[in-house]
This record gives sequence, structure tokens and C-alpha cells, in this order.
Amino acid sequence: MRMVDIIASKRNGNELTDEEISFFVNGYTKGEIPDYQVSALMMAIYFRGMNERETLTLTNVMADSGDKLDLSAIKGIKVDKHSTGGVGDKTSIALTPIVAACGVPIAKMSGRGLGHTGGTIDKLESFNGFNVSIPTETFIKNVNDIGISLMGQTADLAPADKKLYALRDVTATVENMSLIASSIMSKKLAAGADAIVLDVKTGSGAFMKTLEDSKALAEEMVTIGKGAGRKMVAVISDMDQPLGRKVGNALEVIEAIDTLRGKGPEDFTLLVRTLATYMIMLGGKASSEDEALRMIDDAIESGKALDKLAEFVKAQGGDPSQVYDTSLLKIADKKKVITAEKSGYISRIVCDSVGVSCMMLGGGRASKEDVIDLSVGIELLKKVGSKVNAGDELAYVYYNDEKNLDAALEKLKGSYEYSEIAPEPQKLIKEVIK
Ligand code: URA
Repeated sequence: MRMVDIIASKRNGNELTDEEISFFVNGYTKGEIPDYQVSALMMAIYFRGMNERETLTLTNVMADSGDKLDLSAIKGIKVDKHSTGGVGDKTSIALTPIVAACGVPIAKMSGRGLGHTGGTIDKLESFNGFNVSIPTETFIKNVNDIGISLMGQTADLAPADKKLYALRDVTATVENMSLIASSIMSKKLAAGADAIVLDVKTGSGAFMKTLEDSKALAEEMVTIGKGAGRKMVAVISDMDQPLGRKVGNALEVIEAIDTLRGKGPEDFTLLVRTLATYMIMLGGKASSEDEALRMIDDAIESGKALDKLAEFVKAQGGDPSQVYDTSLLKIADKKKVITAEKSGYISRIVCDSVGVSCMMLGGGRASKEDVIDLSVGIELLKKVGSKVNAGDELAYVYYNDEKNLDAALEKLKGSYEYSEIAPEPQKLIKEVIK
């Protein structure tokens, strides 16, 4: 078999056989096929697409490309959660302690920020000493002892995805439904949970910009998961403006903790409660949505969910006193204010521009090797639908370095659009696919 023939076949719009897919994935993982040929194939797939069978084969071959976690030593139904990526998406930090406090074991594999989107692992590192590079034995022990543990993707888990994803990131081939579905689901299948709740983002801050594409992606991933014997639910949620009011690693941790105290922003709280409901039901701890919601309220009101976060942070080397006193989390001292350029309603906040602005402040990576500044970020005082007068404060920008500050402020200012009449309110939860 020759790689050049596989590239030409996809370029010409043909279906790839299972053997061809295995050949290129395994050859690339072993370093036998060069980046330039796989880049060409990714671009051919980007334009020509893959059908359901090709996507399923790609997922399975990538999931089988390395180790698979055996979670059988953990008692109960293990439930995982994955977001397709967004701006201000600190969901896992509030969600997982709530679900664990409701008795569902959480054994979660999380990622770092990518492009304009943030990642749970970077955010958790805002806690002094927090460690995500724990051995699998510690990961399993922590889930059995305290009901929750999170780790980063190890080098041996779905290594084909690790290589392919890094290549797609720099060859403009991320935004393809089959490539995203296989990338996410190969990691999830290798990570071993019994049930998976997916948060599929849609809008300007998401990889899938339209509801139609997001729905197709969600359906594809649910089909793949069910085919592999996993219980699946996908929630399609809005990412046309940042989630909550805070964007930036330590700032987002503070907002997640506020939410665990029952004082979170409305949109973020709704998303957390919705995802927690499905995780608790898939985990077999509630038989109706109402019952799950009552459990969630109790976990928050009793303080059990906040205590669970503190236990989890401590078990992974972090400082639990920062959970109870968020002023101990480091936020950049220097602050600028963005003001409204016009009077009217805020009709749009272009979501990916807010993510890029935070990245420019040093809160995200432009290349994989960059060290990020966890203390910088943006606090949105007004969101879509707010009525403003010219000169009103729209957002605070927390920064340390002046270098890209002006460009970051310009980007943020440019993300606001105004209208004379109030925009139609957008639903946060667009659809649930079971
Ligand atoms: N997240 C992933 O893990 N992979 C993708 O391709 C996109 C988002």
C-alpha cells in the first residue's frame, strides 16, 4: 500500500477502506509516514469528508493506537464528560465535584487550552501545587477514596490522536466533523468510562459555528459511543458569547467556586445543572431529572460539593485553602477598563475574539511550548442583551505584561456589536441528544 495512493483516492472523493485507514494511522503513529503526506490527507478529508463507516474505523484505530485505561477497579458506573471547547468554559471545575458529591465516581481525562479555547488542566493549575501528571494507580485510588480524580492525557493514551491533533492544529484542518468526532471519541473510548456526557458547543466561539453542524457532530459522537457499548448523552449548548462572566484561568476557577456556593452567573449555573443532571442519571443515582436536580441543589446548599472540590484539590497536591478563600488565588494586579463606544443594546460579543484577546494577554498558548500566565483574563460586566450608554464600563482586563496589551484591548473592543433594538434572547441549551 502506498500513502500517495490513499491521498489521491480521498482527493478524488472516494471512500477509504478500513485497511487504508489503519495503514495511515498506524504508519503515522510509528513515525513511518511523514507529516507532509498526512497533512495532505487531512486537507483532502477536510474537503471531501468521511462517511459514517470511515469515521467509525478512524475512531477505533486511533483508540487502539496505545494503552487503554482499565477502570474496572473502580466501583460503580464511571461517568466521563467532554466539551468540544469554548471561551469561559470552566464547566468541569464546578460540575465534577457536584456529581461526585451525588455519589457518581468521576474518573476524568482533561486537556489543556488550544487556540482560542481554554482547557481544564491549565485552569486547575491555578491552585498552588496542583498536579495532573499522576500515575494511573493514584488516579484510580483517588476515585475509590474520594470519588473524583482528573488527569491529563498520558503519552500512551490514543497517541495517534495526539500526533494528528497537533498536526491539524497547524494545518488548518481542525474544523471537520469526522476528524473532530474521531479525535474526541478515540480519547474517550481509550479512557474507559462506562457513560459519557458530551457538551457540544455551537456558535462563534466553537469549532462548529452552526447549529446544524454541531447537531451532526453530536449525533455522530453519540452513535460512535453507543456502538462501543457506552451510555451516551450529548447536550448542544450556546458558545456564541463567552460562558459566564470570567475568561482566563484563575478568574474562571473563582467563578466555578462561586457557582459551587450557589452564587454563579445564570447561564453557567444552568449549563452545570443540566450536564450534572444527565451525569447523575447515567450514573444510576437518580431515575428522573427532578430527582437529579434535587440532589444537585442539596450538594450545593449543604456545601458538600465545595468540600468535594477541596478534597480533590488536596488529593492532587493543591492548596485546599484557596477553595474556601478565593482571594488566595493569584489574579494580575494591573487592570484596564473597556467602555461602550455607542449607546444601545449589545447585540453580539464575537466569542472567539474574546478568547484570542485573553490569549494575547498571555492567558493561552500561541504554540505548544508557550508558558501561560494563569493570573490574566477578562471580566465581562455586560453581556448580549444589556442596554448601555456610550462610555459605560463593559469589561475589566487583568494583565501583567504591556507587550500585547493594546492589541488585546483592541481585539476585545472590536468583539462588541451594538443595535438600537434589543436582540432576541438566545437559548443556552439548544438541544439534548440521547
Ligand atoms: N477537541 C478534541 O479533542 N479534538 C478535536 O478535534 C476538537 C476538539
